[in-house]
Amino acid sequence: MEIFNYQTHKIIQGDLLEVLPNEIANHSVDLIFVDPPYNIGKNFNGHKDKWATDEDYLNWCYNWIDMCINKLKPNGSMYIMTSTQFMPFFDIFIRKKMTILSRLVWYYDSSGVQAKNYYGSMYEPILFCVKNPNNYTFNVQDILVEAKTGAKRKLIDYRKNPPQLYNSEKVPGNVWEFARVRYRMDEYENHPTQKPIALLERIIKASSNAGDVILDPFSGTFTTSFVAKQLGRKSIGIELQENYVKIGLRRLQVADEYKGEKLQKEI
Ligand SMILES: C[S@@+](CC[C@H](N)C(=O)[O-])C[C@H]1O[C@@H](n2cnc3c(N)ncnc32)[C@H](O)[C@@H]1O
Repeated sequence: MEIFNYQTHKIIQGDLLEVLPNEIANHSVDLIFVDPPYNIGKNFNGHKDKWATDEDYLNWCYNWIDMCINKLKPNGSMYIMTSTQFMPFFDIFIRKKMTILSRLVWYYDSSGVQAKNYYGSMYEPILFCVKNPNNYTFNVQDILVEAKTGAKRKLIDYRKNPPQLYNSEKVPGNVWEFARVRYRMDEYENHPTQKPIALLERIIKASSNAGDVILDPFSGTFTTSFVAKQLGRKSIGIELQENYVKIGLRRLQVADEYKGEKLQKEI
């Protein structure tokens, strides 16, 4: 295990099963974003994301899900991803321990052919869970999106007395459309399952406040730490692979220079 501190951000290189119990205090984290290997055979720098049986994969997951829940403060939130085929198992396991407030669909378009003999996969599921449904952070004003009826068509709602313009902004629904990170995009890093900055921006803005601690136990390219730094949050990122940790250290250094503009890779 190796620990790197960068201002209020910590990067820990190691196995989360060793790092979580030994390096992170229970009830100390405001928000957890969990994007584990999906057990679908992706190649993470030579490590195959495929367990011998589905049961092996799920038992491994259940172990760290429990650890993650322990790390959360009583008013904390967790967003958790996995493949469509394993999400039902996560859902049934987690709903006994937390309240699942939203079952989100991250939808993306794809120009390539996904499948020829069945309907190709165009989305990834995300559970939004809270420890206490009566006490959790949700910054509605920071994540409003355009409400097309009101904003574009300027319609008037005559059912109201007096009649009113439709709202031009609304809270996003549970289907989120963000482009996947592709080669040649400014934010692209050499990793098979890098998550978009825009996805983490919405999650972190909605479910944490400035100064809060955000944990990502499968950091990959450290998108979570990168966005957390830009938004004035603290972060802890865990990642097994040295190559990806190097990406994380670099991204933390450039985070403040890149605020919705061009990501500078050379430092
Ligand atoms: C789905 S990717 C995360 C991608 C990340 N959200 C991003 O935006 O780049 C999962 C990551 O978990 C890492 N990983 C796999 N097993 C791990 C373990 N036992 N402990 C810590 N990290 C692990 C992999 O190396 C991989 O980078």
